[in-house]
Amino acid sequence: MVREWDPRTASSAEIESLLDTVNAAFAADLPADPQWQNSSLREYLAEVMPGERRISWIAQEEPTDGTPGRIIGHIHVLLLGDIGVIDVLVHPEERRRGLGRKLLAKAARRTYQEGFSLIGVEVIGDTPALHFFEALGFAREYVETRSVLRLATVDWVTLEEMARGISSGYRLEFYPGGPPDEMLDAYARAKAEIRDIDDGDLDLRPSSYDPQRLRDSLGCLHRRGMKPYIVLAVHERTGEVAGLTEVVVPAQHPTRADQYDTIVVQDHRGYGIDRAMKARMLFELRAAEPDLAEVQTWNAQANEPMLKVNAELGFRAERDWCEYGVNVAELVHRLDATGVTTP
Ligand SMILES: CC(C)(COP(=O)(O)OP(=O)(O)OC[C@H]1O[C@@H](n2cnc3c(N)ncnc32)[C@H](O)[C@@H]1OP(=O)(O)O)[C@@H](O)C(=O)NCCC(=O)NCCS
Repeated sequence: MVREWDPRTASSAEIESLLDTVNAAFAADLPADPQWQNSSLREYLAEVMPGERRISWIAQEEPTDGTPGRIIGHIHVLLLGDIGVIDVLVHPEERRRGLGRKLLAKAARRTYQEGFSLIGVEVIGDTPALHFFEALGFAREYVETRSVLRLATVDWVTLEEMARGISSGYRLEFYPGGPPDEMLDAYARAKAEIRDIDDGDLDLRPSSYDPQRLRDSLGCLHRRGMKPYIVLAVHERTGEVAGLTEVVVPAQHPTRADQYDTIVVQDHRGYGIDRAMKARMLFELRAAEPDLAEVQTWNAQANEPMLKVNAELGFRAERDWCEYGVNVAELVHRLDATGVTTP
């Protein structure tokens, strides 16, 4: 019933069936989130950055009358640097029957065999997944807050003042699709600023601090059906990138965009850059993506300046988003002890 699965070669019916389970899980766990669409879903599941691998398994019902059974569970592990990042899902009607544990056992054993010692996972606050991972010995390492802004509630007049409220000597530039090639060096330098800041998170998402990695990462985003939009603050005297903010509109849920990194380089803080870039971004998104209704973002709870700016823009804190980690050998041991891991 649980088998390794490759989204690249999966049938369209399997992709559709997985989508049904994803949407049933959203309806149960995150009812205010938009339902996903089958738009580049296969690519979303299959594509990775160079040097990374994603291995997937599904739980599928037995076929009846020659019709393939529904996909009622899914897990993948993304082998990323020195950590295996998992994402697991069981249809709400099939939960508490040991399926989640069975899927996790597959992914944990493979991660162990691949020589990784750590598994990390993003766990959504206020959902059964918290109990699941805690019951299996995962430890909470880091917490962010997810905030959501509804475009219908934005005061566009005030927002326009914010977008113009940047100190002289800086200008904002907007790049749908990602920064142009000639800006990539300066862009990567700005991103490298935050590279060495150890804020305690597990680095569960790929980050790009050099021009080639950035190029690869943009290529990967596009292949996965995720359209990036960038606003840059340029320091006019030096031409340096003083700040940047990145938003992605995913084909899978195009009414809700994800605000990724926002960075203001240390020497350029205190000039209104964060607020102005994000305000400008909202204007650009409104023009470029007429179907867009919401933007969501994630912030460390200690990042008070950014939380304050987000609140001024109209973002409302919604729920915790937690990173959990576990030692792989210990997890495999624990699952073996409960009798679910088959060699
Ligand atoms: C987390 C998840 C995969 C667990 O799947 P599952 O098949 O129900 O898990 P299992 O039956 O293997 O549970 C294993 C153990 O976890 C713990 N557990 C799981 N769900 C729990 C819950 N709701 N409350 C308390 N403990 C729970 C229990 O200790 C359980 O063992 P037990 O049933 O013998 O007591 C499932 O709840 C899920 O898909 N959640 C949604 C994931 C998500 O983040 N969705 C976001 C939208 S896509």
